[in-house]
Amino acid sequence: MARRAESPAIGAAGGPPVSPLAEIACPDDWHVHFRDGDLLRSVVPETARHFARALVMPNLVPPVASAADASAYRRRILEAVPGGVEFEPLMTLYLTEETDPSDIEAAAVGETATAVKLYPAGATTNSGGGVRNFDLIDPVLEKLAEIGMPLCVHGEVADESVDIFDREAVFLDKVLDPIRRKHPELRVVLEHVTTKEGVDYVSSGGTGIAATITVHHLAINRNAMFSGGMRPHNFCRPVAKREHHREALLSAATGGGEKFFFGTDSAPHLKQHKEAAVACAGIFTATCAVPCLAQIFDDSGAIDRLESFASLNGARFYRVQPNAGKLILEKCESPVGYPDRILAGNDSVAVFDPGFAIRWRARRI
Ligand code: NCD
Ligand code: ZN
Repeated sequence: MARRAESPAIGAAGGPPVSPLAEIACPDDWHVHFRDGDLLRSVVPETARHFARALVMPNLVPPVASAADASAYRRRILEAVPGGVEFEPLMTLYLTEETDPSDIEAAAVGETATAVKLYPAGATTNSGGGVRNFDLIDPVLEKLAEIGMPLCVHGEVADESVDIFDREAVFLDKVLDPIRRKHPELRVVLEHVTTKEGVDYVSSGGTGIAATITVHHLAINRNAMFSGGMRPHNFCRPVAKREHHREALLSAATGGGEKFFFGTDSAPHLKQHKEAAVACAGIFTATCAVPCLAQIFDDSGAIDRLESFASLNGARFYRVQPNAGKLILEKCESPVGYPDRILAGNDSVAVFDPGFAIRWRARRI
């Protein structure tokens, strides 16, 4: 059974608050990876501490591809939610070249799934079953457009001949834009956008497209992967980019626009798989995501816009009400403590270190 590492609990330090309490609608995480088994049991409580809902990515092995898979997975997630905590997992289906549009419609009608996830095959962790020939998914895209169900997109080409730092921009040009021209009614979420090109594409793209932004892409640029040596815990897909891209993401997140919302892409991998010759892609942020986001918004003079980004914009795009429950945020005199890892089975998962002190603590009420 998973246990938490013996490190200070969130909010254990920090000293007295220096700001009045801020109360916001409880945040949603519109992009999270929970995995399964021991790891699932370790990470679900981390997300449920500050988020009332989360859109759960389907890239298990084998993938969550059918409504039946999604229902069973949802039950396993709910079993891992601590007693007394209200938390709603919203499910996604993994799009393959074989996906049947009528199954998608059935999952939408039965409210078993909230969205469908498109992984270009080979672009990221467990994407091998994803899409190689985008023409083959036309019938599914037509169905999604017809029923208004969002398509969540991992926006990178998987082509190894394309420079890894260009793969998002090339995807927008070569894959996403043609898809959206062919299916103008399709509702798209460009997941974990990392570039200025992506921000501009979404900003100018009308009401049918929005984007999630992670806390780690707001906190670090690509230097963080190589600071003093290779830093596998700062490695994810899409990889962090140059500083001017981070600045574009920050402006988009804090700018008050409705098309950008919080999706942590919290992606736990065991330490043995991160600290390896070939390190897995994924950064685990669930434990500190909300306090870290508050710090970033505060440092940008935009704490009053945190609620839109973390709790309102995504709900509007997904056509659900904001959470009725609240989150209390307070700024402390000194840095708050949080664990640097959580235990999972016989191993552990490193918690994201943004490289700056966090003085905000959060608590659901
Ligand atoms: C994610 C994972 O580990 O499942 N990895 C990552 O680097 N973000 C998959 C993904 O969202 O790309
Ligand atoms: Zn992800």
